[in-house]
Amino acid sequence: MQSRLTAEAYQSEEWFARERALLFKPLWQFVGLLSMLDRHNAFITRSVWGVPVVVQNFHGELQAFENLCLHRQNPLQTESQGVRPLVCSYHGWGYGADGAVQHIPFEADVYRYPAAERACLRLRRYALEVVGGLVFINLSDTPLPVTDQLSPELLDSLRGVSMAFDGEVLQATFSTRMNWKLAYENLRDSHHPRYVHAQSLYQKVKFAVSLDGAGVALSQRLRQQGVPGRDEALSLMRGFSCGGPDAPMESLPPYAWHAKVERYGHLDWYYNWLVFPNLHIASGSGGYSFIIEHHVPVSAGRTDVVVHYVTAKKKAKYAVSAAVLLAHLQGAETVLREDFAVMERIQAGLHAQAPTAVLGDFESANQTIEHWYLGLMDARFSL
Ligand code: FES
Ligand SMILES: [Fe+2]
Repeated sequence: MQSRLTAEAYQSEEWFARERALLFKPLWQFVGLLSMLDRHNAFITRSVWGVPVVVQNFHGELQAFENLCLHRQNPLQTESQGVRPLVCSYHGWGYGADGAVQHIPFEADVYRYPAAERACLRLRRYALEVVGGLVFINLSDTPLPVTDQLSPELLDSLRGVSMAFDGEVLQATFSTRMNWKLAYENLRDSHHPRYVHAQSLYQKVKFAVSLDGAGVALSQRLRQQGVPGRDEALSLMRGFSCGGPDAPMESLPPYAWHAKVERYGHLDWYYNWLVFPNLHIASGSGGYSFIIEHHVPVSAGRTDVVVHYVTAKKKAKYAVSAAVLLAHLQGAETVLREDFAVMERIQAGLHAQAPTAVLGDFESANQTIEHWYLGLMDARFSL
């Protein structure tokens, strides 16, 4: 199938702005792990499609706000994570769990706001949803129920796996020069590992390239008829996310630390969760450890890939747990960089008259998403 996604969809900032409004603003976005917010004043910050967001724990209650002080728009929290009250470092304004300004130093002496103006000082708040050990937020004023976006089966599966995560987390961010869509298209392409990861991941896992007859038929129907309405669009979207055991592992080296954690499941399989549109969770160790990979769009041609590494829950503290996470970072980084190198080359080669992709039947999931996505971008339905 000749793709209708031209270079513009990957390169144009106008297109990117439309994606932000039509796709990302209505959808729930992953922002971090619950274990990073496990005490009073613990916070994480994230840029969600250019909107700076802080999620903060107020005596056990999680709240998500725009991370901009109301006085002069200084970011309230400046680190990616930490434990600190929600207080601006510029002139000391402090905020409470409802987003209202609780304290303005020297307020009566130097600011002298009229009472009506003072009463309106409240941070912009965003809806927040916790799914097991995963935290999601929604930037819309009228958030879609999370069950419209993710099926009950997937939510259960995400709860199950994320509750198995240990609280010791290693986080790293890779800044890439690629459009975010290249990342999700690549994740749904099970044919590339034998070439791109021939010396790394493919040594451990032989991914099956399956031809899904029903998926091919669905994609052909959508190509001819389009997406008829919002209900079918939501139902299709729920089908874009899936997860669980993916492929058997050829070899699973028996590391000593495996005995120190509560393994998730009991299969020597590669586990894989794809959460539309931009979250990927995997275990390349048969449930002993996990990578949580979040593709954060920055602009049309730039994507930050924020990764969290965790093992399964520790049975008890052990001396080398930090080294285990570091070794995971190094192993996973090899595979990630192999993917980034391909996708950055594709991005760099795009130009206005570039040919579009020619997708095969094994890429029916990407074809189906493309038909759906173009229906959304053409405003034939909305989320
Ligand atoms: S900018 Fe935050 S207190 Fe002034
Ligand atoms: Fe890959």
